[in-house]
Amino acid sequence: MDEMQKLQQTALEEISQAATTADLNDLRVRYLGKKGSVQALMKNMKSLPAAEKPAYGQKVNGLKQELQTAMDARKEMLEKAELDRRIAGEKIDVTLPGRQPAAGSLHPLTLVQQELEDLFVGLGYQVIEGPEVVEDLYCFERANIPRDHPARDMQDSLYIDPEHLLRTHTTALQMKVLEEEAPRDIKVICPGKVYRRDDDDATHSHQFTQMEGLVIGEHISLADLKGTLEFLARKMFGQDREIRFRPSYFPFTEPSVEVDVTCHVCGGKGCPTCKHTGWIEILGAGEVHPHVLEMAGYDPAKAQGFAFGVGIERVAMLKYGIDDIRHFYTNDKRFASMFGRFE
Ligand code: DAH
Repeated sequence: MDEMQKLQQTALEEISQAATTADLNDLRVRYLGKKGSVQALMKNMKSLPAAEKPAYGQKVNGLKQELQTAMDARKEMLEKAELDRRIAGEKIDVTLPGRQPAAGSLHPLTLVQQELEDLFVGLGYQVIEGPEVVEDLYCFERANIPRDHPARDMQDSLYIDPEHLLRTHTTALQMKVLEEEAPRDIKVICPGKVYRRDDDDATHSHQFTQMEGLVIGEHISLADLKGTLEFLARKMFGQDREIRFRPSYFPFTEPSVEVDVTCHVCGGKGCPTCKHTGWIEILGAGEVHPHVLEMAGYDPAKAQGFAFGVGIERVAMLKYGIDDIRHFYTNDKRFASMFGRFE
């Protein structure tokens, strides 16, 4: 075997074994480059007799051509294999079920608040919201709770400065609405967050949600209040609910009442939810105190009305059987997903 045949054999073998296009490039430089083996064969031609030169030249050119063709073929093969491999890796199974995006759901407190709002809007009430930092004047003074009044002790407060505090009840907004609307008639609900300095436990939270109701007009009596709250209780807890008024005390109402509803779990027979009394307390209410009306600019001889304050957490806990108020604030998806759509 002469030198040229040997070169042809090893080169073709190496080309056929090249694993990557980079390997193939190395071979191209080594065999077909300016300083490559084929070029070296060409140089040998100088030492040949003139008669042999053309035939020799043709052979070297033939070899060059052959290697070139082999390399091109190998390159094409490697590139196709690489493409096949990538296509296989990126294959999409269009028959797989799609992934549902994790859609959120409304918080149970939002749901209950919206339900209450819908109900009162249906009765012709306006929904009013206000700031959470309020003046002492509206939170207490105008609610008939002067600075040295012991009723202040019922609501431990978070003061921002001596005149401003985080509202301890939505009654602060009631007082503002009274002042702004006097001497006109009023029919509003005021939902919102309230704050009290408290140690959090299963039934207490330093921040919770209330909804105030306020109706002012001529001859608005406790009977109107009772009818309204009966409607509320039945909408929220079932059509056969009864309510009862118990005498109570709030500085801003006279008379004041605590409102109970027949237990929605046992229907009034007595069970652990109602502590075996058949009744569950849901809110505080009363006729707006004449002095409160006067301070806001009303003439109590001409305008009267009722007010009530309901805890939204309390309604939600009763309605859904939630045993710990802290569930509302800890953002556990398992809890949140129980009241609406949450995948
Ligand atoms: N503000 C009271 C509280 O937070 C609730 C309340 C009671 C509001 C009677 C009222 C009312 O409007 O008439 O405990």
